[in-house]
Amino acid sequence: MTTRRTRIAGTGHYVPDRVVTNDELEAVMDTSDEWIRERTGIRERRFTDSETTCTDLGVAAARRALDEAGWSEKDVQFIIFATLSPDMYFPGNGVLLQSKLGLPGIGALDVRNQCTGFLYGLSAADAYIRTGMYDRILLVGSERHSVGLRMDDRGRDTAVLFGDGAGAVCVEVTDGVDGSFIIRHHLHADGRYADELCIRSPGAGTRPWLTREMVDDGSSHPYMNGREVFRNAVKRFPEVILEALESEGYTPENVDAVIPHQANQRITDAVAKRLGLPPEKVISNIEYYGNTTAASIPIALSEVVKAGTVKRGSLVCLAAFGSGFTWASSLLRY
Ligand code: UT7
Repeated sequence: MTTRRTRIAGTGHYVPDRVVTNDELEAVMDTSDEWIRERTGIRERRFTDSETTCTDLGVAAARRALDEAGWSEKDVQFIIFATLSPDMYFPGNGVLLQSKLGLPGIGALDVRNQCTGFLYGLSAADAYIRTGMYDRILLVGSERHSVGLRMDDRGRDTAVLFGDGAGAVCVEVTDGVDGSFIIRHHLHADGRYADELCIRSPGAGTRPWLTREMVDDGSSHPYMNGREVFRNAVKRFPEVILEALESEGYTPENVDAVIPHQANQRITDAVAKRLGLPPEKVISNIEYYGNTTAASIPIALSEVVKAGTVKRGSLVCLAAFGSGFTWASSLLRY
């Protein structure tokens, strides 16, 4: 093998069966189907039942990715798990997934980069493989938002946005001669904006880390300064996509598909417009799942691979922006 490169060998996704429509939310908080669709593009999202955890969603997605890649569980040498809604404060979901897949002994890394978690995870998998540390890595992005949302009037600005689901990819070593390989990643963060999109408690930054008052005042639910996040998102998405393309001498016309983190249809439309891309090249499924944070890119990727929209050799740019703020892109030949 001349050059060690990395490729995505298989994709998989899993969403819970339970569909939650905007009308259902309207019944428990002061919102409307019209407001949600106009401001976000979301019509429905999926919520788990009372038993299914974030790790369970990840296991289901992982098994589908393993099938598509033609791997057995035993082929997995390392696990990376990206989520902001882990089953426990600690340990992380990586070891829980490892146990549920029956793979004691292999390493498991947790990524806490929220909306960009999948791309930060992909960049780590790519680096581990290129340097020869591993040949086959399972990367999972999964979220169970439904248990953490504030389902009343005070939570309406965030509760209507998020949904549950998981996506996974099997990442393996290749020499790239067949035209299927990851090209490069660009990772960014600006922690000055940490307070603009966060869950404040529980956290060891306060003492005690969780009180009755924190629960009552809503700081254990997501907080978002929507306008500030929106303003930055429409700037950073095109910026980081163009950074990826220009670093390789490409222009937007060369891209077969841009798969953005699914934050808001208006953001996705603004990205398409800014890049001069037809809407069909900028993948969107937010209508059906809402924002699934670390899971949104691998779910969308899995869907377009299965639909045949993205084929082997397609030039694909994955891009994300979110809490932190963090933003990132991964450019690849699928
Ligand atoms: O994945 C992480 C990244 N996340 C994002 O990128 C999200 C970025 N932000 C957004 O997508 C948008 O800011 C939102 C969808 C969250 C909000 O849309 P907006 O057009 O920025 O609305 P707004 O926050 O300016 O609120 C407009 C009005 C307000 O009422 P007043 O002050 O004008 O009377 C809100 O109180 O809409 C009200 N509002 C709602 N009304 C009905 C806020 N949430 C709701 C709701 N239903 N669920």
